[in-house]
Amino acid sequence: MTRGTRAFLLSWAIVAGLACSTGASTGASNGDDTQFPATPSQAERRPDVIFVPTREAVVEAMLKAAKVGPNDVVYDLGCGDGRIVVAAAKLGARGVGIDIDPQRIAEAKENARAAGVEGRVDFRLGDLFEADIREASVVTLYLLPSLNVKLKPRLMEQLRPGTRIVSHDFDMGDWQPDETIAVDGKTVYLWTIPKR
Ligand SMILES: C[S@@+](CC[C@H](N)C(=O)[O-])C[C@H]1O[C@@H](n2cnc3c(N)ncnc32)[C@H](O)[C@@H]1O
Repeated sequence: MTRGTRAFLLSWAIVAGLACSTGASTGASNGDDTQFPATPSQAERRPDVIFVPTREAVVEAMLKAAKVGPNDVVYDLGCGDGRIVVAAAKLGARGVGIDIDPQRIAEAKENARAAGVEGRVDFRLGDLFEADIREASVVTLYLLPSLNVKLKPRLMEQLRPGTRIVSHDFDMGDWQPDETIAVDGKTVYLWTIPKR
């Protein structure tokens, strides 16, 4: 192999390597088999927390704590397979689930269809930290303590006084909950957006 050929092959390998490491061109893998759409903003965004579903007994306790009924609009931020939104819809509420992982959104839609509540729910692919949540009367969370704290200013800014927030297992820093409920070895926290 001549010197010129070696130099050409080396520069080609560097360009190809960069294209792979930036996930350039088509849909990108984040290395753990989670596939993202090819738009630059979403290809760069990884979930802040992995999918761990809330057990049914805890879902029931969360919706009961928030007194969810037919007049409610329930938002689950980081909705996973949609189980909380589907359970809320079975109580007559309208539900919206937001998740950054397209696989979760696909599962949630299928679960809503199987439960026969697809007419009362909406599942949206997106970042919960950028979502418009103003219409919610109940917000449900199963994230992490640090994510709850990061989210708090957005909850305070967008939600109307009286909106209930329920969190599975994680508190919200120095914001004292109205209620703390033990269920099935887990903890459910309830807060209410105060009057301004
Ligand atoms: C612990 S799971 C909870 C799932 C569901 N809420 C439940 O309780 O069964 C957290 C979910 O949040 C999603 N998630 C993580 N970061 C996110 C973000 N920035 N925006 C939207 N969803 C996110 C994950 O994909 C995952 O499905």
